[in-house]
Amino acid sequence: MWEYSDKVLDHFRHPRNVGAIQNPDGVGEVGSMACGDALKLAFKLDAQGRIADVKFQTFGCASAIASSSALTELIKGKTLEEAGRITNQDIADYLGGLPEQKMHCSVMGREALELAIAHYRTGKRAAKVLEGKVVCRCFGVTEEEILRVVRENRLTAVEQVTNYCKAGGGCGKCRPEIEALIERVRGEAAPAPAAAPAPLTALQKIKRIEEIMEKEIRPALKKDGGDIELLDVDGSRVLVALRGMCANCQVARFPLKDVVEARLREFVAPDLVVEEARS
Ligand code: FES
Repeated sequence: MWEYSDKVLDHFRHPRNVGAIQNPDGVGEVGSMACGDALKLAFKLDAQGRIADVKFQTFGCASAIASSSALTELIKGKTLEEAGRITNQDIADYLGGLPEQKMHCSVMGREALELAIAHYRTGKRAAKVLEGKVVCRCFGVTEEEILRVVRENRLTAVEQVTNYCKAGGGCGKCRPEIEALIERVRGEAAPAPAAAPAPLTALQKIKRIEEIMEKEIRPALKKDGGDIELLDVDGSRVLVALRGMCANCQVARFPLKDVVEARLREFVAPDLVVEEARS
């Protein structure tokens, strides 16, 4: 028994937009009875190029029916450009999620829509064309399709790929190749090393030092009746003067390096050297 969201069950029991359209502008068909899922999607545009009517016919499980129904609701009123941007994840999200083993139903919906749009644009009705290298021969899934589901759904395991597009779910011979494709996408997704922050200008550095002294250093010194004043900044040299109690307190000189310099290095620039002005 699959765990379905209330919305999946609602669209399964009361599917929207079921049927056929007379003289449709675009028709897309995917799947086959032999594989257990099949979907035919047809739409008609209005004068503004928006999808005025869309209908589907499907042979499939509860999630195939719910995914197709959701897709029709998602694309109604949209232009073909807008509809073409809908991903299988959008369909699943609209339904409040699908069991992962059923995600291929949402992929089937997206594929049928792409074929229907291609039909409208080219005037040619085509079954799903296997373009490029076929990785999974059992289910006729290409490298391009696998890369796409991995990227769009951030998949990290072969089992997930099988759930999303069936590749790898037959004899299993293609599984090492699917693994390699997942690795390839993982490599693409590796975050670029963070760019080093632009160095501060002299004015920015002075302002930042003043700010940190005001917020992070001065309050602690004032508590003990002391104070600190910024006299000059020369490159990485920060010249300060201790005031009040601190001026005559030898103990106050120790925190100069440990606290003041450490704070300024942490928040302003790592090469700053704090020196006390000799009077
Ligand atoms: S070739 Fe992919 S499962 Fe058989």
